[in-house]
Formats: sequence, C-alpha cells, structure tokens
Amino acid sequence: MPAIIPPQFNELAVPPRLLLGPGPANVAPRVQAAAIAPLLGHLDPVYLGVMNDIQAGLRYVFQTANRTTFSVPGTGSAGMEAALCSLIESGDKVVVGICGYFGNRLVEVAERCGAEVIKVEGEWGRPLDPDELRRACAQHRPKLLAAVHAETSTGVLQPVPPLAAAAHDHGALLLLDTVTSLGGCAVCLDEWGVDAAYSGSQKCLGALPGLSPLSFSDRAVTTVRQRKQPVQSYYLDVPLLERYWLPEHMYHHTAPITLTYALREALRVVIDEGLEARWARHRRVSDAFRAGIGGMGLGLLVPEEHHLPQLTTVLIPEGIDDAMVRKALLSDWNIEVGGGLGPFRGKLWRVGLMGASCTPANALVLLDALGQILRRLGAKVDAGAGQEAALAVLAQRGPLS
Ligand SMILES: Cc1ncc(COP(=O)(O)O)c(C=O)c1O
Repeated sequence: MPAIIPPQFNELAVPPRLLLGPGPANVAPRVQAAAIAPLLGHLDPVYLGVMNDIQAGLRYVFQTANRTTFSVPGTGSAGMEAALCSLIESGDKVVVGICGYFGNRLVEVAERCGAEVIKVEGEWGRPLDPDELRRACAQHRPKLLAAVHAETSTGVLQPVPPLAAAAHDHGALLLLDTVTSLGGCAVCLDEWGVDAAYSGSQKCLGALPGLSPLSFSDRAVTTVRQRKQPVQSYYLDVPLLERYWLPEHMYHHTAPITLTYALREALRVVIDEGLEARWARHRRVSDAFRAGIGGMGLGLLVPEEHHLPQLTTVLIPEGIDDAMVRKALLSDWNIEVGGGLGPFRGKLWRVGLMGASCTPANALVLLDALGQILRRLGAKVDAGAGQEAALAVLAQRGPLS
C-alpha cells in the first residue's frame, strides 16, 4: 500500500492571456500545433532531419556560418551556463559588462565556473561604455569578455561591434547574451565578430520555452578543445552536445522532441516573414507604443537612441501601486506585463512586444487598458491622446495590420 494518498486536481483550464511581459511571448497557432505532432525517437532518421533544419534556421537568425550552432535543452540560462562552463576553466579571467540584472547573472555563473571576474559596471538604463571595457581588457588580458546584447531588465540595446573590437584587440573572445534580441532586432554574429552567443526560444523567436539556441565560432571551439580539464558539467558540455547535433549524432541526452518541433516551425515563421521585415515590425510596433505612452503623459526609462524595440520600460507614475495595476491588467484584461527588477522593483513596468505578441492591435489594447486602469486609480493620464499618438506612428508607416 503506498503511504502517500493520490492528490486530486482538475483538468487544466488555462485563461487566454495576452503575454506582453519580458517573455514568454504568445506563439503563432502553427507553432503550438507543431508541438502536438506525434513523438519520434531522438535518433529516428526523420528526427535527425528536424535537427538539421533547426541548425540551418538558427544559422540564419544568428546570421552566422558557424558549424557549431544548435539548441541546448533548457531555457536561456542553460545556454548561458553551457557557454560559460565550456569556455572557462578555473582561474581564467573574465571581464563582464554589467548595466542590468542579466549582466549580474553572467557574473554569478562565471564565478561558479571558477572564473576570476572583473566587473565593469555601467548605469542601469544606459548601454555599457566600450572604452571602459577596452581598458579592462587591456589591463587584465581576460580569456573572455561577456555582455548582454538586449538587457531585459532595463530595455537597453547594446551596440556590439565596439565590444568585439575591445575583446579581440586584447586577445579575448566575445560572448554575447542574445536571449531577448534574437529574432526581434539585428543579431549578426559573423559581421560583428561575436565568438559565442546563446539565446532563448520563448521570446522574439516565437517558439515555446525550454530551448536555448547557441552558436560558437571556430575560435571558440578551438578554445574549448584546448582545455586542460574536462568541462565540469556533462549535460552542458558544448563539445559533447555538438557530437549529438553534428553528423555523428552520438547519444548524449534524450532531446525534448516536441519543443524542437515547435522551434523548427517558429524558424519557418521567421524565414517566411524575413529577418529584416521582422526587425522592422518590432521597431514599428514599439515606436507606436512608446509614442502612445508619451502621448498619455507617462515617462520612459530609456532614451530613444538606446531603446530596445522588443522591450519597453515604462516609469510608474508617482503614487500608483505597481502590483495593483498589474493585477488589474491580468484579471480585467487578461494581459500580462512584467514588473521591475533590482533597483527598478515597483518603479517600472516591462512591456514586451515580442514575436507573435508584437502586433499593432496588442500595443493599442495595452495602451487602452493602462489608460483606463490608471485613470480609475486617480493618475493624470490622457488615454485618448495616447491612442492618437500611437495610431499616428502606425499610419505613417503603412497599413495597420
Ligand atoms: C537577457 C537575458 N539573459 C538571460 C535570461 C535567462 O533566460 P531564462 O529565463 O529563459 O532562463 C533572460 C531571461 O529573461 C534574459 O532576459
């Protein structure tokens, strides 16, 4: 007789949320449908074809010819850990640029890999200063410079080529976190000289959560091959993962089959739309949303020139309770947005217009919802002016769809 009695729970009932936070984003119906295709074994020849398609699709979205390009099982953090624990050996020096929450996570993971981390801190809400990173690389001669391309905690887009130059001029590799950027704005690994990058499936790529695309240049692969000690994680060892993905297809782990079906379909959606058109859609919708926020009389954390299209940080007006607004958005409108992280907790909302969630209609409905809730709570906002400002931007740039 089992000592623990069976628990009782009902059939799952999921509300139809509009996911407008920092991720996951809503996915296209065809992506959701791909995930319910019948299972295949992870070494089935048909499945190996799925893997090949994913590698080709990821090379397109990463804009790279890197052979070592595949998805790591696990969310964006798995890609971060796989990259860092494969590239770093105990005692290696790593310079990390920090201007938000995810820069700090890079530090935390690199330190757990035994790295001697040199932190270069910038202001949260502004990009890193490449000259400071260059000076740190010149002084410390690190193995690796690591930075976040799209800082999801602040909504800042980091220009990459100056970082690559700072690293390469001093013999370091550049590792780039593209969890929030990939598929939503330009990510050009080869053109920019990025040696290693990882991402997440659940944001601008428009797939389901649970996979982390990763790409290593030949230089990064050589660095891993020259390690003195084996990678301390078996599961996240990039060369071992590569032997499963590349022609050998040597068993390493049981692939999350249905998640990879969905990623393959999401990549097909990206290919159908075209990368440039997809980047332009994210820019257009977010420009309209930002104009709407300004038109309502609310403030934004990030100035236009540093703004990350797929994630906008809206300052919470004085006297307005963050949690009350987000609760009303969820319960009355079925809309999720994110709250602030670290020093911005309670001070801003993080609005993600990513992947399939990034539509003019979603931007307009969120402006409407925010306007009505804030007015009810006594804030001085002009919801009508917000809608008009957003519509004006959309109209300037083509049809409303
Ligand atoms: C920039 C950045 N890096 C890393 C991560 C970690 O990804 P995950 O939560 O998918 O593990 C996130 C998650 O939002 C992120 O935004």
